[in-house]
Amino acid sequence: MSTNFRARNMAEHQIADLDEQLLRRKLRTTESPCDTKARVGKRELKAFCSNDYLGLANHPKLVAALAEGANLYGVGSGASHLISGHSIAHELLEKKLASCEEKHIPNARALFFSTGYLANINAITGISRLAEQGQASIYSAKLNHASLIDGVRLASAQNKAKVTLFDHQNLDSLEESLKQDTHPLKLIVVDGVFSMDGDIAPVEKLLHIAEQYDALLMVDDAHGFGVLGEQGHGILEQAGVHSERIIYVGTLGKAAGVSGAFICAAAPFIEWLIQKGRPYIYSTATPPAIAHTLLSSVELIEGDEGITRRKKLNELIQVWRDEMIFSSWEKTPSSTPIQPVILGSNANALAVAKLLDEAGYWIPAIRPPTVPVDTSRLRITFSANHSVDDLRELIQALKAIEKIVGSDL
Ligand SMILES: Cc1ncc(COP(=O)(O)O)c(C=O)c1O
Repeated sequence: MSTNFRARNMAEHQIADLDEQLLRRKLRTTESPCDTKARVGKRELKAFCSNDYLGLANHPKLVAALAEGANLYGVGSGASHLISGHSIAHELLEKKLASCEEKHIPNARALFFSTGYLANINAITGISRLAEQGQASIYSAKLNHASLIDGVRLASAQNKAKVTLFDHQNLDSLEESLKQDTHPLKLIVVDGVFSMDGDIAPVEKLLHIAEQYDALLMVDDAHGFGVLGEQGHGILEQAGVHSERIIYVGTLGKAAGVSGAFICAAAPFIEWLIQKGRPYIYSTATPPAIAHTLLSSVELIEGDEGITRRKKLNELIQVWRDEMIFSSWEKTPSSTPIQPVILGSNANALAVAKLLDEAGYWIPAIRPPTVPVDTSRLRITFSANHSVDDLRELIQALKAIEKIVGSDL
């Protein structure tokens, strides 16, 4: 009993510490579907913070597809994929997803997961287990997403993989290290679109390096699938690359508007992950109704509506870049719908987020450990459902706040 009380004291102390450092996160409960306006409590806020880039999360065709999927398959899968949970809906979705990337990954096969977090953990730990203990060497970009970081940590703990961090904007140190690396398995791991900065990884150069030094290249395109490329197939389509060395991860809860993720790679890698990927083997399959909905979502992404929605996003990005140039707040070299405004301290970011809230906007302050210390920020994101006028109003609101709090926050 006393142990329990000590643990509770510890929890209370830790939370008080977070409060003191302005690092405590708060849940806000919405009462409306995900869209550009959110009902939160009694208020309606203009939301510029979701990852629903194409505005599909409340699309009538996908709402209907989910109802249809539930009618066809019920609401649960009942077991993991390898027991009895793998339905024809999963199979059709995986075939479709593989077809999206097959121009870029020869002999492509896809594997569907319930979340991107799990897909990343599965890909990194599974691929590193192709080598004996201590024989894999992983190169991970410093600003990679937490799910990649955790996958790398797990591979290091489970399989004694060697881990080296690199700067994705300057690949010299990556090349230098790879030159001297004698491990039989080398894996470079990188975000496709960096989730907090919005910039795009130099995937062509990375692939060239991977080929030169006999490495695999894993690209987590969580924020690129649906958004980048003429057909929305993501960063590989946009870069026009082609190689069997690529392990691609796309997520389906962001631009695709639903939930889940997939790994796409050459067939032998996928077969290995089915045999040895622990999150894949030991987890109940996602409801087939979700897979059924996602099939419609991928068709929307590839079709005329997807093309129109991506055009709209690009128009919004252009307006932002042309009109926010007059603000002296720090921005990042982003050409994607993720457009951060970097404000420095936690206090600064919280103060600006609060003023935005008072003006009717929902853009939470993003703080460490999600971003490096002293780079707390607003992570502003666009949806194809925003109008240019919505965006111009936000820009005016930001400029008015900048005048109040000063440009040198
Ligand atoms: C770059 C990146 N990878 C992976 C994930 C995890 O994806 P999911 O939300 O599907 O678990 C995220 C989500 O926030 C992300 O930003």
